[in-house]
Amino acid sequence: MRTIDWVDGAVEIIDQTALPGDLRVLRLHTVGELIAAIQSLAVRGAPALGVAGAFGVALAARVHGDDPAALHNAIRKIETARPTAVNLARGAQRAAHLLSSGPEAVLAEACVIRDEEIAASAAMASLGADLVLQLCGERPRLLTHCNTGGLAAVTVGTALGVVGELHRRGALAGVIASETRPLLQGARLTSWELTRAGIEHRVAVDSAGPFLMARGEVDAVILGADRICANGDVINKIGTFSHALGAHRAGIPFLVVAPESTVDTATPTGGHVEIEDRGAAEVTAWSDAVNPAFDVTPYDLVTAIVTDRRVIRVDRGEKP
Ligand code: MRU
Repeated sequence: MRTIDWVDGAVEIIDQTALPGDLRVLRLHTVGELIAAIQSLAVRGAPALGVAGAFGVALAARVHGDDPAALHNAIRKIETARPTAVNLARGAQRAAHLLSSGPEAVLAEACVIRDEEIAASAAMASLGADLVLQLCGERPRLLTHCNTGGLAAVTVGTALGVVGELHRRGALAGVIASETRPLLQGARLTSWELTRAGIEHRVAVDSAGPFLMARGEVDAVILGADRICANGDVINKIGTFSHALGAHRAGIPFLVVAPESTVDTATPTGGHVEIEDRGAAEVTAWSDAVNPAFDVTPYDLVTAIVTDRRVIRVDRGEKP
């Protein structure tokens, strides 16, 4: 099943806001509907956002092909629908480069981006599983944060793709999914995907992760990224930094699995990245709140970054 695809002239997505209760497909016919789906997290996760950006430009090219100002405005709105994952603007810009060749060429490029993400997931699953076994030995117990499965990446996923591959190899002793406050991508989505894949797992509250590591119950932390900066800083779901600190303290590997489409060498460090603020309403109804959606994990807490083409041993001084 693909999280996002182009089907009969519209963008089809699995509505991730309805999971795990309801598995329903939304058909998005307009740029406005697509942007609303991105902003409500009906479609989410960096690789899937890249594909959404590209399909969004394909929709815009069909509707506004003869109105350059309206087309430019629509593309700008798609690129900026969410600020943190580099994939969204990058996917939109790649598709937009084909505008002079007509709407069908734009759509074809969007489909190439979709297919590249599918291939990248397969490559990361294999590269990442090899690295986990090399660093942790046979049958590791892993902890993952947020959702990095097929829902976040068209199919298979990034870090969760590695978890799935280890399970297929019979080389996985256990998985803990941190619940991922406030929108529960771990408790709702990762848990749903692991159950569907027949992988036994437990959910932990976010604040339990470092303690479970300190107690020796986790052999490695493995998660995804929304952007990887030139110095190796990793931008990912809020809570990633505290899991990296926990892993550092416990002396276990902290592994980031993300496609090359998430590596942004034009951004020098995490301090240069806009961290999405999703407002107080998602956190609490009874007091004011601060709600940054992502954080920056400094490169010196990262053991390795696994992309679809390489293993970057950040702990040995290698850079993206
Ligand atoms: O706010 P979200 O749910 O889009 O955040 C997603 C994440 O932080 C993921 O860990 C990241 O995009 C990697 S997805 C393979």
